[in-house]
Amino acid sequence: MNGDGVVKDERKVAGKPEENEYEYEEEQRMLEELGMYKGKVRLVSSEEPTEETMLLWGIQQPTFSKPNAFARQTSLQLRVDACGRTLSILQSPSNLGTPGVTGSVMWDSGVVLGKFLEHAVESERIHLQGKKVIELGSGCGLVGCVAALLGAQVILTDLPDRLRLLKKNVEANLYGDVRGSATVNELTWGDELDNDMRNPLPDYVLGSDVIYSEGAVVDLIATLLDLSGTQTTVILAGELRNDAILEYFLQAAAEDFTIGRVDQTQWHPDCCSPRVVIYVLVKKQRKL
Ligand SMILES: C[S@@+](CC[C@H](N)C(=O)[O-])C[C@H]1O[C@@H](n2cnc3c(N)ncnc32)[C@H](O)[C@@H]1O
Repeated sequence: MNGDGVVKDERKVAGKPEENEYEYEEEQRMLEELGMYKGKVRLVSSEEPTEETMLLWGIQQPTFSKPNAFARQTSLQLRVDACGRTLSILQSPSNLGTPGVTGSVMWDSGVVLGKFLEHAVESERIHLQGKKVIELGSGCGLVGCVAALLGAQVILTDLPDRLRLLKKNVEANLYGDVRGSATVNELTWGDELDNDMRNPLPDYVLGSDVIYSEGAVVDLIATLLDLSGTQTTVILAGELRNDAILEYFLQAAAEDFTIGRVDQTQWHPDCCSPRVVIYVLVKKQRKL
């Protein structure tokens, strides 16, 4: 592993470029693991993030598939089977009309990320038992609840006035025999962090559908940086709605993070969508 948390498949990079230069370059892009994620990711070029969005929109064609494949945003309750139980996530669809309120219902990338975590733990690509996890922009809280059921000590966070529904969902779903634990805290991206968030720094930072507004990108990255130590792995899932915003995020984040895209073959088989993407980010280690 090098200083950027990167492990390359030595068998592949050892060979000389052969007749097919494109295939060779693609192989070079494939990492065997990134940070604490022990699965294959495709490295996003820090020089050309445009290439990433062109690939995603050109190959996955997200606009041709229907939104809300997994989230039912009009219902008051969303049921999701995960970790041997049925989670029942309360939603407040009527609040979605309030300007700036987005977390009162679940979004597809949240369901995808929750199920991805379950699958990644089962496949031993991630270990969450006893790990400190901070979730950003938790909304209704499905992802953080799944992480707690998988053994993590989770802090679910959101804007200060969005915590009521989140707390209700944590209380309603984390009953009985839970391998980990969960607490709910306010956290506004870009703000100074409470001591208990940074001491110690988390093993994992999670976020689903948190890259959707250009205005919030700088603050979001500032918080990701504040929360990232040498052992921290960030996992973000997002919905492919706007290539310009994703590109802006990737360009800015690539200055400080090594970014890899998780192939859909490693997602939960029941929860894949061409409209969603999952990235693993690891803070680059600066040489002194
Ligand atoms: C689209 S929702 C996604 C909610 C949830 N993660 C999901 O996948 O269903 C975005 C979430 O980010 C939160 N958020 C937006 N801007 C924020 C900021 N500046 N600081 C903290 N949280 C923010 C919102 O309140 C909301 O819960």
